[in-house]
Amino acid sequence: MSQATPILHMFAPQKHMSPFDVNMAADAGFKVIIPYINVELTEITGLVQDAIFSRPPDYGIRTGVFIGGKDALLALDMMKAAKDALVPPFQLSVFADPAGSFTTAAGMVACVEKVLKEKHSRSLDGTTVTVFGATGVVGFASAVIAALEGAKVKMVAHRGVERVFKTAEAAKERFGVDLEPVPGETPEQKAEIVKNAEVVFAAAAAGVQILSTAELQSAKNLLVAADVNAVPPPGVEGMDLFMKGEILPGCTRTSGVGPLAIGDIKYKTQAGLFTRMINATEPVHLDFRDAFKLARSFVA
Ligand SMILES: NC(=O)c1ccc[n+]([C@@H]2O[C@H](COP(=O)([O-])OP(=O)(O)OC[C@H]3O[C@@H](n4cnc5c(N)ncnc54)[C@H](OP(=O)(O)O)[C@@H]3O)[C@@H](O)[C@H]2O)c1
Repeated sequence: MSQATPILHMFAPQKHMSPFDVNMAADAGFKVIIPYINVELTEITGLVQDAIFSRPPDYGIRTGVFIGGKDALLALDMMKAAKDALVPPFQLSVFADPAGSFTTAAGMVACVEKVLKEKHSRSLDGTTVTVFGATGVVGFASAVIAALEGAKVKMVAHRGVERVFKTAEAAKERFGVDLEPVPGETPEQKAEIVKNAEVVFAAAAAGVQILSTAELQSAKNLLVAADVNAVPPPGVEGMDLFMKGEILPGCTRTSGVGPLAIGDIKYKTQAGLFTRMINATEPVHLDFRDAFKLARSFVA
């Protein structure tokens, strides 16, 4: 194994690099961590080449780039730009996890998949998954992961379905998956959406209640509701922070998956992917698909 010092260059398109991600990287074992802020897509090539040419090629496996931010598509574009900038044998590893969304989405989908299997003898394949918070980074990543597993994914627009159409088009173009945008602005629209849902991902902003107990009770087909929001009130009324498939209060068969059950898998997954970067024998390039594979192994 290379004795080179593990160095992580952390790129954020925003004003701050997330302290959460810096801590995670340090705890995973990176010895030198440098945050870069206000990074633009056009600057990635120069930054990456600056990083690779300053170390011997075999040090490339101890050099990493982390891509943060708050925009899943921009993070994936930055990741591609970083990969395209490599000049073999000069290489480095890249890991994208904007706002922790890829690892959070991976944790949520993996937990739901387990509960579906164990409590309802079902898989994601063919299951109707309804995503609230569809324009957010966690909502987008969880929708794509579920669709890649064969789920029929509906993306709920809480204000203007056009924005969700753009998200769905991007998912089709990049990952070949069909995400169906559905308007969910009025109580009637929401009731119709909930009536047909078999799984709900509540991935809206922190502290926003997405489903009340009355709405849950009217959701006759709902098998699992997962909630990533840990800030009161819960995204799904009655959700316990640590729920791992128990029946939600007031429901007869809807299982809950709570934010800290998801957060536990998210934490292990992000830590695991940082560790994979450090221990790699070849450079690795990690996105939400790698996160989902690892999250699955933690819930198994
Ligand atoms: N458990 C964990 O480990 C963990 C880790 C990371 C994040 N989280 C949580 O995951 C959630 C999503 O995070 P994010 O980074 O994806 O957030 P985000 O990018 O800000 O997205 C928030 C989403 O919520 C929607 N929204 C806002 N207000 C709403 C309302 N009143 N009704 C319905 N939808 C509404 C937004 O729609 P617009 O685009 O229309 O505003 C957007 O789609 C947050 O609750 C966050 O705290 C949990």
